[in-house]
Amino acid sequence: GIEKLMEDKVPQTTIDRGNWGSRIGFILAAAGSAVGLGNIWRFPYVTGQNGGAAFVIIYIIFVVAIGLPVMISEFSVGRRTRLNPVGAFRLLAPKSGWFILGMLGVITGIGILSYYSVIAGWTCGYFIKTVWGQFSSTTFTSAQSEQIFTQFVSNPLSNIVYLFLFLLMTLLVVIGGVSSGIERSVKVMMPLLVLLLLILTLRSVTLPGAEEGLRFYLKPDFSKLTPNAIALALGQALFSLSLGMGAMITYGSYLSKNDEIVSSAAWVCLFDTLVAVLAGFLVFPALFAMGLDPASGPGLVFVVLPTIFPHMAFGNIFGAGFFLLLALAALTSTISLLEVAVAYMVDEKKWRRVPAAILMSAFAFILGIPSALSFGGIGLFTKLPGVGLGFLDLMNILLGNYSLTIGAFFISIFAGYKWGIHAVRSEAENSGKGFPFFRSWSFLIRFICPVAIFVIFAYILITRNYF
Ligand code: TRP
Repeated sequence: GIEKLMEDKVPQTTIDRGNWGSRIGFILAAAGSAVGLGNIWRFPYVTGQNGGAAFVIIYIIFVVAIGLPVMISEFSVGRRTRLNPVGAFRLLAPKSGWFILGMLGVITGIGILSYYSVIAGWTCGYFIKTVWGQFSSTTFTSAQSEQIFTQFVSNPLSNIVYLFLFLLMTLLVVIGGVSSGIERSVKVMMPLLVLLLLILTLRSVTLPGAEEGLRFYLKPDFSKLTPNAIALALGQALFSLSLGMGAMITYGSYLSKNDEIVSSAAWVCLFDTLVAVLAGFLVFPALFAMGLDPASGPGLVFVVLPTIFPHMAFGNIFGAGFFLLLALAALTSTISLLEVAVAYMVDEKKWRRVPAAILMSAFAFILGIPSALSFGGIGLFTKLPGVGLGFLDLMNILLGNYSLTIGAFFISIFAGYKWGIHAVRSEAENSGKGFPFFRSWSFLIRFICPVAIFVIFAYILITRNYF
């Protein structure tokens, strides 16, 4: 019947693009993409600066009302077309400008990969430092820790070497392909990550003086909930859930027709949020136990945590475990950033996976160099003339924030109005399990997502508040 006709409109790809081996493999890969530096490095310090639990509440509202509906849409577009974002929009909206949204996603992915890998590289450097016992003297002060951090990030050579190493690890996984590279590695890395996170958090909340940190984290300070903090919460939610650039379209494109979309998306959102909230329970108690400032910004986990290790039993193991945890979380995220561009080259340009992955990671490496130098080395990149920001910060604002916000806005328009809510529903219902909360989803995707994202983005542009 009509279903069959619609099915026939989707051409079967001649090349073997790959497929997830199991639903749990897919959920772990998507959760691996979502859980990253955004959860463990960024979420705690942004929360610390913006009202603790009050910020967390707003954040969770955005995850449910905006993140989840957009993720369902991305998965559906991906599975329907079984293509990368460019091909997917071209197929569903032929002879229109929608493919540009996919293009923006591919470019954004490589851009985010380039600077994200710089910070991911720091986690490797800190892992090595901890193993070598650089943070084991009991007289180690926060001033010394600060100095080690500044020295480390301002060293151009080590930054570039670690950037290279991290991209190489990402490349090696992606070269392996969807099920034998990505899926197989996340199946090992994700359980390890959860285990490490639980052990470390347990240690942190049982430190003497931890209660004060718990009180800070759990006590909402609504006076800090400025419009700016609300905008930050939205940006954080999109970034943390890997939305707005087609990473979830790409991962959805490797799904089989009878896997459930709605419940998978719900699991990924739940898991990502749990890890972020748990990271708060890891960082704040340890921080307060040492009498340090919760609002200390991006250096939080790199400066503050090493001062805690020497005062703990098995501090070196705790420390090395922590940075290993961060590195693993980052790796399962960079994999997804690279995979979008690789899928694009494979589907649209008919390249083979291996050369495509090498070329795209080489791009990310070259583009990452100015970011690697933006904490010292070459003065130009530490503070761009006329911008007043470092190169990495600027990339993060333009790509990690603006581009994802624009992307999420248009994806919700696409799902809600262009391709349409009933097309999404019919795709999601392929599993035979129906579409739970379809009416709520369609209301959110048509009205709440576009309006809320538009208002917040307009506010950011008008006030020109960089964050
Ligand atoms: N979500 C990851 C984090 O929280 C980063 C990430 C991976 C990402 N893939 C993405 C962000 C795609 C935006 C889009 O660290």
